[in-house]
Amino acid sequence: MGSDIAYVSALAGKRVILCDVAEDALERGRGRIEDLAARAHARGRMDTDQMAALLARVTTTTEVADLADCDLAIEAVSERMDLKGEIFRRLDATLKPGALIASNTSGLSITQLAEVTARPNAVLGVHFFNPAAVMRLVELIQGRDTSPDTLAAGEAFVRELGKSPVRVRECPGFLVNRVLVRAMAEAYRHAAELNVAPSHVDAAVVADGPAPMGPFALGDLIGLDTMDHIQRDLASAYGDRFSDGGAIATQVAAGRLGRKSGGGFVTDSPTVEQIDDAAHAVAERYYLGALNEALRCHDDAIATRPDIDLAMCLGAGWQHGPLKWADERGAAAVMRTMQQLADSTGDRFQPTSLLRERAADGLSLLGHATTSAGTTRS
Ligand SMILES: NC(=O)c1ccc[n+]([C@@H]2O[C@H](COP(=O)([O-])OP(=O)(O)OC[C@H]3O[C@@H](n4cnc5c(N)ncnc54)[C@H](O)[C@@H]3O)[C@@H](O)[C@H]2O)c1
Repeated sequence: MGSDIAYVSALAGKRVILCDVAEDALERGRGRIEDLAARAHARGRMDTDQMAALLARVTTTTEVADLADCDLAIEAVSERMDLKGEIFRRLDATLKPGALIASNTSGLSITQLAEVTARPNAVLGVHFFNPAAVMRLVELIQGRDTSPDTLAAGEAFVRELGKSPVRVRECPGFLVNRVLVRAMAEAYRHAAELNVAPSHVDAAVVADGPAPMGPFALGDLIGLDTMDHIQRDLASAYGDRFSDGGAIATQVAAGRLGRKSGGGFVTDSPTVEQIDDAAHAVAERYYLGALNEALRCHDDAIATRPDIDLAMCLGAGWQHGPLKWADERGAAAVMRTMQQLADSTGDRFQPTSLLRERAADGLSLLGHATTSAGTTRS
């Protein structure tokens, strides 16, 4: 992630210092940046001089002291709070006053990281998506102490990279992973209840809604050991609605970690006739899970409604977001389905206040709402 972020920054004309613990890690990072530049050159996106200038803007070091003059440091070390905390302490001691410190963490607390520094209001999350050289979304994570100026500067930086920032108030899983993992957990759970094969669910999810890939293929792609950590963390933060019924743990215990281990949930590709009502019911549950979590994010003031939909498009590749998915059905119809599910499954599908209000008033969920960038979308 670090070298991809360095590449997109250098591509935008920034001078970048890539810092790692070991020379061989720096060589790998430098190699990745050269590969990305060579590919862009081969596709005619930059000429030879531009490629040379880009590469000249990137230098490497193993010494944090060399970062003293940077305006912004983006930490992208392994996902461990103790390690990141130590890096933040050293960056805070090294960087000039006024410099910002950001983390690319996928889910650790920005507030906690800020607390180890003497500049907590200058700390934020900049959560790039993988591969960062390609994916347009960057979640800008606002910790408890992140100042509006810091957030605005982070947003301006991300825009200079040609990426699309979405402001997210800190919460476990942030925005896209929170919505996606909830939907995946619901699908895994319901597929087991209805005894539907993973590949059949995936085919129905792709056929019936905006997601480009089904939840089982996505789990296999991410890696089921990684998914296991994420799902457990979110279940301990939010409770039963993130329970997957043990589906992921069963695969991991059997040594099936997804594509990287040559086996995971998906073992076949179904014919169209095999996609039956039960598969469609699981697909519906997947989208309702995503919607319910997206609405909770709205009610918790994690992100604005248009930003939630935008983030799901740019970060998860959906053709349109969960709120638009609901609006196509009508808030009142979705409200009835959600209420029936709440009656049969308990709290986790409880309709949120926005859905109740919009259904009662006969209004759409998206309506006229303002994005974090201040533009109005209807
Ligand atoms: N891989 C993804 O899909 C993805 C997506 C979004 C965010 N992230 C986040 O990005 C961060 C990095 O993820 P990754 O997959 O690139 O990890 P990685 O393990 O591939 O890379 C981590 C790098 O940090 C270096 N490092 C370790 N200790 C260090 C230290 N003390 N000082 C300097 N460098 C040190 C390692 O040498 C390595 O090069 C994590 O916080 C992760 O959650 C990853």
